[in-house]
Amino acid sequence: MKIYVPMDSAAKALGADEVAAAIVAEAARRGLAVELVRNGTRGMIWLEPLVEVDRGDGRQAFGPVTPADVPALLDGTLQGLGPVDSIPFFARQTRLTFARCGVIDPLSLRDYEAHGGLVGLRRALGMTSAEIVQEMTDSGLRGRGGAGFPTGIKWNTVLGAKAAQKYIVCNADEGDSGTFADRMIMEGDPFTLIEGMVIAGIGVGATRGYVFLRSEYPDAIKVMTAAVQIARDAGLLGPDILGSGRAFDIEVRVGAGAYVCGEETSLLNALEGKRGVVRAKPPLPALEGFLGRPTVVNNVISLATVPVIFEKGAAHYADFGLGRSRGTVTLQIAGNVARGGLFETAFGMSLGELVMDVAGGTATGRPVKAVQVGGPLGAYMPVSKFDTALGYEDFDAAGGLIGHAGLVVFDDTTDMLGMARFAMEFCAVESCGKCTPCRVGAVRGVETIDRIARGDAAAVPILTDLCETMKLGSLCALGGFTPFPVMSALTHFPDDFATRKEAAE
Ligand SMILES: Cc1cc2nc3c(=O)[nH]c(=O)nc-3n(C[C@H](O)[C@H](O)[C@H](O)COP(=O)(O)O)c2cc1C
Ligand code: SF4
Repeated sequence: MKIYVPMDSAAKALGADEVAAAIVAEAARRGLAVELVRNGTRGMIWLEPLVEVDRGDGRQAFGPVTPADVPALLDGTLQGLGPVDSIPFFARQTRLTFARCGVIDPLSLRDYEAHGGLVGLRRALGMTSAEIVQEMTDSGLRGRGGAGFPTGIKWNTVLGAKAAQKYIVCNADEGDSGTFADRMIMEGDPFTLIEGMVIAGIGVGATRGYVFLRSEYPDAIKVMTAAVQIARDAGLLGPDILGSGRAFDIEVRVGAGAYVCGEETSLLNALEGKRGVVRAKPPLPALEGFLGRPTVVNNVISLATVPVIFEKGAAHYADFGLGRSRGTVTLQIAGNVARGGLFETAFGMSLGELVMDVAGGTATGRPVKAVQVGGPLGAYMPVSKFDTALGYEDFDAAGGLIGHAGLVVFDDTTDMLGMARFAMEFCAVESCGKCTPCRVGAVRGVETIDRIARGDAAAVPILTDLCETMKLGSLCALGGFTPFPVMSALTHFPDDFATRKEAAE
């Protein structure tokens, strides 16, 4: 009997380690031969710890499982969920980037290869650099870190730059509220990120890569560090990748914990051992990045999507999607929601279908009031915007942004003035201090919202003005995008700002 218990940190937070220990103990007590596999998560967090049992006739899912359920689980009398593929939340997905996550043992290279791993890299090793970069361009992949910049164009700039040394930097800082896709893939399928970075390296002519991983992810740090060593020992990293004569190696570097260190230039400063302050652009990191050398800075999901593009071909990937948003989006559903987790689907589904139908509305059962899409710099989308299709251009037209595709759901008890204040306060706390509109503006923003809360209606146009200044005058998107949550709260939920005035009168 083979039993899968996730070692993903979300599953562990919900008791997966205790369930695994109970399975080992109970199997020993019964003298039962059980092979325990610690896999990644399938992404259905409300069902964690989700345990799968394979008695030789396929994997059957159970969840959430507690240690007290283990005897019945081994007896075969515990009520199950059927195969994971039959659970509607999972069945509706198109899993390309996350195809292996939760299926394989994350640290088994053999398991990885048995499920399509390294097919993409082997194909890329037979291509020229220009062909590799063209394949990326043809796939239509846009950066999943937030800005949605076409990955092929970025790689092409680095390929064309003349330098003795180039770098691939993976942005694993994942600071957006309600996001966890980077962590999940690093904990559940780390070789896919490594393979993606190797392909990027041979594509642009870089021989060194860094994973800048936030300190708040101790499990991901452990898994990535172990995976890099396993990959090196197997000749997947090092001076002679899979006997090709091409060199590439990776180092995992741990960030010290600042939201702004996810911004690429600030990240590069931190990686160089400097203070995490934003650099003015130009020069672009693609031309003068890490240590002043041409550098590809890509998000974890962008790089982890590279192997499937090379495995199945750019045309296959580009076949999914909507308009200029090609492929799949790895949505992370969180907050006050009935079914939270990772949902990978082709761009194009509406926000309403995702929140109400797929995720089942709020966990409290109360009406949804707003969904913040795109992290702390994303707009609060009201229910009236639920017909907006998930796509970069569609969201832009609706006054929102997709960002890293995190969604945080709020019910009708939420005070949107409080949320606007939180956005300004977050900006004030996390500001790197380099430019005035953000450093001073965010502090004034908090004060101005407090005035509105005290019933001072004259402060409303001041807030609007301030947001305009921050939007136009900030050096990076921390100060420049904070007006999105603030203004969306003010625009879509004016009552939450007006009632304070009435209360004060
Ligand atoms: C304040 C701020 C925080 C950011 N945080 C992250 C982050 O945690 N992870 C990430 O990949 N990109 C983050 N970005 C975006 C990066 O600057 C950059 O666009 C991205 O890493 C490029 O990779 P991509 O093209 O693959 O998306 C952030 C940007 C800003 C302005
Ligand atoms: S907007 Fe804020 S975080 Fe960005 S450079 Fe200016 S002060 Fe720094």
